[in-house]
Amino acid sequence: MKKSLILALTVMIMTVCSAKEPKVLITYFSASGTTKSLSQDLAKATGADLFEIEGAQPYTAEDVNLGNREARAFKEMADKAMRPELKESPKNLKQYDVVYIGFPIWGNYAPNIIYTFIEKNDLKGKTVIAFSTSGSSELTNSFNYLKQQYPDLNWVEGTTLKRNPTPEARQAVIDKLKAAIPAK
Ligand SMILES: Cc1cc2nc3c(=O)[nH]c(=O)nc-3n(C[C@H](O)[C@H](O)[C@H](O)COP(=O)(O)O)c2cc1C
Repeated sequence: MKKSLILALTVMIMTVCSAKEPKVLITYFSASGTTKSLSQDLAKATGADLFEIEGAQPYTAEDVNLGNREARAFKEMADKAMRPELKESPKNLKQYDVVYIGFPIWGNYAPNIIYTFIEKNDLKGKTVIAFSTSGSSELTNSFNYLKQQYPDLNWVEGTTLKRNPTPEARQAVIDKLKAAIPAK
């Protein structure tokens, strides 16, 4: 009797211990550091791994100069089919259950390099949480376009961090993004 009780307890403890946490990767593109810093703080808050999406040709300050309509970012915004090449893709993407994709909003959409990233990496079957930083735009338009372009992915709409947030507003964004991770 005692033995079977101990056995039952051992099985219970083993079951609880093996209820795995989802494995989470935060990927992000950032041209001027805002999305990078948010992603780093989100990684601290969630314990997730981080991967920076970078162009094979790095983005310079001049590339995102809003005063220059000839700048690279404007050319990319004007051509939704343009696919800037990636520097690299994450290794061992297979092991992740949840992948965040963070980006600055450009012209009310995600930058084209985000489309390259999605097309070059197999995200099927994973929960994909989109989030952004912006001057004032909401994430919704960029998010709806992503969902429409890649309907096979399991999308979750995160939120956007708008310019000059109070510390409370910034924390609220991190909390909301953290809460978007589904239980495994
Ligand atoms: C080319 C370009 C287009 C932008 N378009 C928008 C926009 O449509 N709406 C908005 O609120 N902010 C816009 N912004 C502001 C950025 O989204 C914002 O500064 C963002 O936090 C920058 O992130 P990063 O530092 O990670 O690159 C734009 C910035 C650039 C450079």
